[in-house]
Amino acid sequence: MGVFDFLKAKNFNENDDGFEKKDARRDNRDDISKSSSGSASTQKRGFTISNNGPSTEIKPRPSLDNSVDSSGRAKAKFEPSNYPGVTKLALEAQRVAYDNVIRRNPNVQVATQDELGVQSRSVSDLQYRRFASYIEEQSGIVLGDSKQYLVNSRLSTLLIRFNIPSIDELINKAMNPAVYKEISTAVIDAMTTNETLWFRDNYPYLALKNIILPELARRGKSPVRIWSAACSSGQEPYSIAMVVQEQATQVVHVDPANTQITATDLSPEMVERSRFGLYDSHALARGLSAERKAKFFKPTKDPNVMEVDDVIKSMVSFKQFNLLNSFSLLGKFDIIFCRNVLIYFSNEVKAQILEKFAGNLNPGGYLFLGSSESINGLTDKYEMVRCNPGIVYRLKDR
Ligand SMILES: C[S@@+](CC[C@H](N)C(=O)[O-])C[C@H]1O[C@@H](n2cnc3c(N)ncnc32)[C@H](O)[C@@H]1O
Repeated sequence: MGVFDFLKAKNFNENDDGFEKKDARRDNRDDISKSSSGSASTQKRGFTISNNGPSTEIKPRPSLDNSVDSSGRAKAKFEPSNYPGVTKLALEAQRVAYDNVIRRNPNVQVATQDELGVQSRSVSDLQYRRFASYIEEQSGIVLGDSKQYLVNSRLSTLLIRFNIPSIDELINKAMNPAVYKEISTAVIDAMTTNETLWFRDNYPYLALKNIILPELARRGKSPVRIWSAACSSGQEPYSIAMVVQEQATQVVHVDPANTQITATDLSPEMVERSRFGLYDSHALARGLSAERKAKFFKPTKDPNVMEVDDVIKSMVSFKQFNLLNSFSLLGKFDIIFCRNVLIYFSNEVKAQILEKFAGNLNPGGYLFLGSSESINGLTDKYEMVRCNPGIVYRLKDR
């Protein structure tokens, strides 16, 4: 796979952070696939349509309230999804998609999944509970009691990729990583939310440039070590590197050549994507000024894609890393960014991670969390520093 294909491979929901919003949109897409018999089929919630050749019969699905036409045959009827988070607009999109399929397929047959031999894209209740425990154990991500729709929508595409007929079977394999490593990695990856953007929330980068880096420069700190601990597709560590370059024009500054940025994420795919440093126009439009784009990016052969400049790239080293693991081999940092990932974890796991960060910060080191995250009731190792705008946590003196 070329790098440009790779860039397009994972389907991003760049505008959302929330589980519901993201997957409400996915849920409303038609999922066109090949059925096991090789005939084209379209599977939607509430009905399955199969174009199996010159059939003239319309089989009603028992649960549908079908009307009957003049020849006595039952007619298919649109039945909207009642999945949580489905918006009015999405329901309209479902209806249009349904109508289009019916219009293009005069011999359309509406039948149950069982009749067509198409297996389930819905996780069973028992399997959901097993899977939720497994995901929490492996990644810290808490799914809660009612995120079946999320599992269905995120894992559906993997059924095709791994040629597995049902979500339950996919989950069985994923939970056996010793045998099905690739499936297991892909399934955990699919359950992460990778929403990110350049200079997210702005205030951490202002605090870095105007308060923290000058303080480290005055203390003669060298090298300066910064960790972006859930870096997703790389916007956060590259934004940090850009700020480090920009502050080098100030009288008091740290040396960019002696600044090491370590960027880690659970997702191997995100780490690989970050290393490429390629961003399409959609990603570039989110949080990046025209000035920074001109200064820190170079064009590629694809006019829609730009690449992070080599100087910025050389400041960041990426690696796959699970925040549930021991941090002992990572060394000490002056600043840690751990933004918009603790929200997915239980309080117990949040507290453990905050304690571990404290052990990996140099004296007086700083911790940035996401703007909706806090350490309240989780640890007493840090003091809050107001930066106006925003806050950062500083490791307390022992
Ligand atoms: C919403 S993104 C946040 C990206 C960036 N920090 C930001 O604020 O824009 C959350 C990231 O956390 C990663 N993640 C989830 N669980 C993790 C874990 N146990 N260890 C490391 N990274 C994890 C996900 O893969 C995802 O890329």
